[in-house]
Amino acid sequence: MGQPGVSLGESFLGREDARRLHSQDGYAPSCYTGRFMRHKHSDYMQWSKTQSRARFNLATSGVASFPLRDLPTDLKQLEINCDNGYGYAPLPQAIAARHGVDPDCVVESAGTSMANHLAMAAILETGDEVLIEHPAYGPILDVAHYLQANVKRFRRDEENGWEIDPDELRRCIKPKTRLIVVTNLHNPTSVLTPESVLREIGDIARSIGALVLVDEVYLDAVYENTPPTSFHLGPEFVVTSSLTKVYGVSGLRCGWILAQPDLAWKMRRLNDLYSATPVHPGELLSVAAFQHLDLLRERARRIVEADRSLLRDFLKQQSRLSAVSTPWGTTSFPRLVNRETDAFLERLRSELDTSAVPGRFFEMPDHFRIGMGVNTEMFAEGLNRMSRALGRGD
Ligand SMILES: Cc1ncc(COP(=O)(O)O)c(C=O)c1O
Repeated sequence: MGQPGVSLGESFLGREDARRLHSQDGYAPSCYTGRFMRHKHSDYMQWSKTQSRARFNLATSGVASFPLRDLPTDLKQLEINCDNGYGYAPLPQAIAARHGVDPDCVVESAGTSMANHLAMAAILETGDEVLIEHPAYGPILDVAHYLQANVKRFRRDEENGWEIDPDELRRCIKPKTRLIVVTNLHNPTSVLTPESVLREIGDIARSIGALVLVDEVYLDAVYENTPPTSFHLGPEFVVTSSLTKVYGVSGLRCGWILAQPDLAWKMRRLNDLYSATPVHPGELLSVAAFQHLDLLRERARRIVEADRSLLRDFLKQQSRLSAVSTPWGTTSFPRLVNRETDAFLERLRSELDTSAVPGRFFEMPDHFRIGMGVNTEMFAEGLNRMSRALGRGD
């Protein structure tokens, strides 16, 4: 699977590492100079932290920062310490109330990143088979490989509007599959998986005793008729999310997992080995954010919707770009026709100070990801510059 000329291994490890480590399942761990090498990094995260910045930054995925001064809360009440060993009760309660679940099903985590890690680490044993969507958010794959799972993939096809095809899942699933992993909304395309399809995925998983992990970090960027969490669809569903993408408070690192109580407890115990106890000032501010979530969300919504409208007009005018448009979400994933995408993005950044995420980080090197929702003036100028670069035709 993957794009011509680039193996899954190369797209994440770099060519040299991939050549050395290549194994039958892409870049799964293998033996090299007699020592066992485990995958221990994320190329996407490193790129995002060190190379994604530009004056006109379209390489984002979350909305504009919501400033602390605008959060209606009394900062004199902020505290540093508390007996919050397995979480500060008001926070899981707020998360539980928002989703209509029992607080016993809520596990606090440091962002959706740690939520995904904890969820997969609690569910998978070394060598267990995990079936992950393609294209996928890179760090999900990185964690699965780090955990030494046996990573298999199922396709979401552009020709099919990037939708999940349950028949494709049925073809790829094996009796030994332990976990199916999807994002909803899908990162990078923002495609929404409807409840009927999620139910089918649940049925497929149940038939072989597997679980379904749904990363819902972008789901609340469906601003009208926001679907409820898929956690309610059955006991095989495990859900991860956070306030980092749609609410503008990424710095709080407020993330969570929704899981059945026994599995949730296993994750809390496992987290004793990772971040141990949560950052208490973060918990207090997160509770305050939960009290005003609609305020945070509406502010970002205005920017996301203005940007989406600009993006639609832009895409209509660009014969060299083809994209599946969605009425929601903070990202879009156009394909650049007849042109080398990495070279195009390099020049866009070095000559026009404008960035977007190369599709190679999603194993789709002909595509790139554009992020909305930060600043409409910046977004408009970024698109202008992209238009100029596309017009150059070299
Ligand atoms: C699908 C998906 N899951 C998880 C994350 C990580 O989110 P967080 O910042 O909450 O750790 C991201 C970030 O881009 C993402 O796109």
